[in-house]
Amino acid sequence: MKRLGVNIDHVATLRNARGEWHPNPINAALYVVKCGADSVTIHLREDRRHIKDKDAKSICDLKKVLVNLEVSMNKDIISNALKMKPDYICIVPENRREITTEGGLNIRKNFVKLKTIIFKFKKAKIRTSLFINPSLNDIKLAKLLKVDCIEIHTGKLSNKIKANINHTNELNRIIKSSKLANSFGIEVHAGHGLDYKTTKLLSKIKEIEEYNIGHFIIGESIFYGFSKVIKNFKKLLK
Ligand code: PXP
Repeated sequence: MKRLGVNIDHVATLRNARGEWHPNPINAALYVVKCGADSVTIHLREDRRHIKDKDAKSICDLKKVLVNLEVSMNKDIISNALKMKPDYICIVPENRREITTEGGLNIRKNFVKLKTIIFKFKKAKIRTSLFINPSLNDIKLAKLLKVDCIEIHTGKLSNKIKANINHTNELNRIIKSSKLANSFGIEVHAGHGLDYKTTKLLSKIKEIEEYNIGHFIIGESIFYGFSKVIKNFKKLLK
């Protein structure tokens, strides 16, 4: 069975819209796991636009929930993350002006910086992942960095499918990248822009073991509830 991580950042977005306390991301973390999610993902952004430090710390302290903390390469964020001790880390690129994470890391440009950061997380025994584009060169660099996992940015594929544009080349890039990473012993994850249709398509790639999905699950749950939506995804990932 492939694993499903639910990104609950947008529960915090909704809470922050009122500047009060409801809906509470800590309750969301507990609830999505009760509904069948294998882990929760939270992104502690440099501008703290959704998840705040206090949320991240409290969620990392929950004993019943496996937490995947997304972090940029920012020095303060890395040092906060090391103190919070999440189960998993995913290093992502971050640009203040973006609405969401628009692409994978530039591994070549940041190779030395990433090497130092990965070393710190591995020393703290935190499973570490790199958010990357489906590129064979980047997979080879990820191998040199001795990272545990990669998460393939599926945003381009999702956008093409949603816009009804031919997606064969992008899908092939994801397939080849997944196979290469797997042959290097790197665990393969996928995330960004996924919905039922794209997840079903990607679920056929046996090398992809984990899917991290946020916006669609939160939006769909407004109508059908977390329980039903998470069950639907788990069925697709069987
Ligand atoms: N995985 C990573 C590394 C991300 O940065 C994001 C977006 O924050 C997601 C998964 C979830 O993307 P979406 O909200 O589009 O499902």
